[in-house]
Amino acid sequence: MEMDQLVALCKRRGFLFQSSEIYGGLQGFWDYGPLGVELKRNVREAWWRDMVVAHNEQLPPPGAPSTYEMTGIDSTIIMHPQVWKCSGHYDLFHDYMVDCRESKGRYRYDQINGRWVEAEGRRVFVATTLGGEEAIADTEQKALKFFNLRKKHADRLAWLGSVVPLTTVAEFSAVLGPDAKALGTLTEPREFNLMFETHTGAIRNESSKTFLRPETAQGIFVNFKNVLDSTRVKIPFGIAQIGKSFRNEITPRNFTFRSREFEQMEIEFFCRPATSPEWYTYWRDRRYRWYQDLGLAGERLRLRDHDKAELSHYSCGTADIEYAFPFLPPGEFGELEGIAHRGDFDLRSHMEGKLVREGGELVVEKDEHGQPRYRGSGKDLSYFDEVAKERFVPHVIEPSAGADRATLAFLCEAYCEDEQPDENGAPQKRVVMKFHPRLAPIKAAVFPLVKKDGMPEVAQEIYGQLKPHFHTFYDEKGAVGRRYRRQDEVGTPLCITVDGQTLQDGTVTIRDRDTLEQWRVQKDQCAAEVRQRLGM
Ligand code: GAP
Repeated sequence: MEMDQLVALCKRRGFLFQSSEIYGGLQGFWDYGPLGVELKRNVREAWWRDMVVAHNEQLPPPGAPSTYEMTGIDSTIIMHPQVWKCSGHYDLFHDYMVDCRESKGRYRYDQINGRWVEAEGRRVFVATTLGGEEAIADTEQKALKFFNLRKKHADRLAWLGSVVPLTTVAEFSAVLGPDAKALGTLTEPREFNLMFETHTGAIRNESSKTFLRPETAQGIFVNFKNVLDSTRVKIPFGIAQIGKSFRNEITPRNFTFRSREFEQMEIEFFCRPATSPEWYTYWRDRRYRWYQDLGLAGERLRLRDHDKAELSHYSCGTADIEYAFPFLPPGEFGELEGIAHRGDFDLRSHMEGKLVREGGELVVEKDEHGQPRYRGSGKDLSYFDEVAKERFVPHVIEPSAGADRATLAFLCEAYCEDEQPDENGAPQKRVVMKFHPRLAPIKAAVFPLVKKDGMPEVAQEIYGQLKPHFHTFYDEKGAVGRRYRRQDEVGTPLCITVDGQTLQDGTVTIRDRDTLEQWRVQKDQCAAEVRQRLGM
């Protein structure tokens, strides 16, 4: 599948629209249309049900520490600025960017690639924002233009090695920027904090400055004590949250994959330090299985353990669940979710002040006067185990997923094309979205075969029976074959048709989206049949 086909389908059928499209759009922001909102709600609801409400349906596997409890919260998007100072986001949550003085373009330093080329006695690094095969073609085209050569003289270009990142280049004066005509127009890389700033209250000054949260996780940490005090949860337990996060990404790209406003589904799971490695493995495997169970079962999904060098300074294990999105070069994967062992870093930072590693130990970062650089809350966020009569700061396992990235992966995986005979037996190309039934935006569609002979009335009756239980669609316009295809294109698993036989024996035809199998059931059995077939 080409990404363009999916993007076009998403717009045509109301899954996703560019934000503020009538004004030319706003880069990095996306709106979900009538079907997209249902799909994303189903993703969120599947996550909440499986991880929070019904988490005991999948008990820890044999050998895992013990059973556990799960609960949820919904914290605010704007929080006390000190939260971000102690979490490290204020100082460390940045990307490096480079600007082009000629084209005025701004790029993420780590997303520029290029190739060294020599011609006419000059050595130039030709930069591109593309990767893989596309980068090779793009750099060749740019080099020909730069050296004023025709394509037939491409052999005058001596390429010195393959595509490498700009981060390997020291001489910026020899770089031809991705959108530049002259050499040396890229600035040196500079830090760029990704948090969106705003101000709270009527006065705008440094002390009124607040931030849109870049992750939902910190809302959980700062409420840890509130949850403990207001519920009877005992360690091990998890707090879950779904909500919007905001990052001022330098180069939002690849449809919704890298947006500036997006939704996260995060769990902070609190446990004893001694059992945390087993819980880490449990959550890593459990989260991987969740995507598989919802249909990302093939080779496009993978679980990748970070090697030691990639780990955050406080972590003893991190893994990413990744998907081979079609917009990535072959063999490349994009992150859907990270599962991190965060130790006691976050709770201790909010107690004591921002932590840093010093000689293998986490200690509070000090300023030039020996005072904490950022003061913590000073509140006691430790846990007292009543049975063991022991106090400790829990360790945390954090499965952190993106609702939009998961939705995009489910859209990519669902897209299929096949050929099916039309009413006259002629082959017809069919686009079908093979969503897992739990995720399908519409669960069933009801059609009268024709708009007469009392068929619409019976179909409306069935529609009325199904609607309170499942998202159901009624359609009586056009040839029935076309109506089937319209439902296939949005992934409706079952279509129910009222036909001539219905008027005689009270049965209707049900058609399966994937197998195209058709069978008959009594019209008052439709709800039970849909429930049973979709496993709901
Ligand atoms: N609390 C940990 C945390 O936020 P992260 O890896 O930065 O970790 C977690 O983000 C998940 O949030 C990612 O795996 C991804 O699914 C989603 N995410 C992050 N940045 C995103 C963006 N700019 N657009 C869409 N989703 C994003």
